[in-house]
Amino acid sequence: MGYSFTAPDKNWAREPIERTEILWIIIAGSWCLFMFVWMIAWHWIGNQNMNTEAYKTFTDVYAKKTEEFTKQYTVRQDASDPSLPVVAPPPGSDVYIAGSIFQWRPVLELQKGKSYRLHISSLDYVHGFSLQPENINFQAYPGYEQVITVTPNKAGTYGIVCNDYCGLGHHTMLGRIYVKE
Ligand code: CUA
Repeated sequence: MGYSFTAPDKNWAREPIERTEILWIIIAGSWCLFMFVWMIAWHWIGNQNMNTEAYKTFTDVYAKKTEEFTKQYTVRQDASDPSLPVVAPPPGSDVYIAGSIFQWRPVLELQKGKSYRLHISSLDYVHGFSLQPENINFQAYPGYEQVITVTPNKAGTYGIVCNDYCGLGHHTMLGRIYVKE
């Protein structure tokens, strides 16, 4: 008893594509394109993507600016962490916050309904700036300064959770923003 062996077709790669497969490639491709267009459009439509300005900087330059800003407008030390200054800048001003292992510094105190130019950067690694409970997210990169024009519309205490793994103390990296009526 023997067995039969059929050699694979040498031109298997040149086989015509199945029609349903072509259909799926077209559907998937169109969906990718559709989502890509919306990725950009959401910067202007709805609240999904926030527009930011970004500038190159140096970590020591940004650290110095944040320090000077903090010195100028500190009103008290934070009640829950006395090592952190609470800074209350005037409406319309440039506000600086710096992420570093493992803190967001300083604590900010803003006024409801007033606009500020919020600068975000990191002094060492990549950190996540996730404003809770609003779920507004940015990444803070060392060497890059992002500027967002913010107008807080609800009074309360907001947390800044680092949601980019940055080291052993990552889970302890919490910042705070107070919004006053
Ligand atoms: Cu900073 Cu995780």
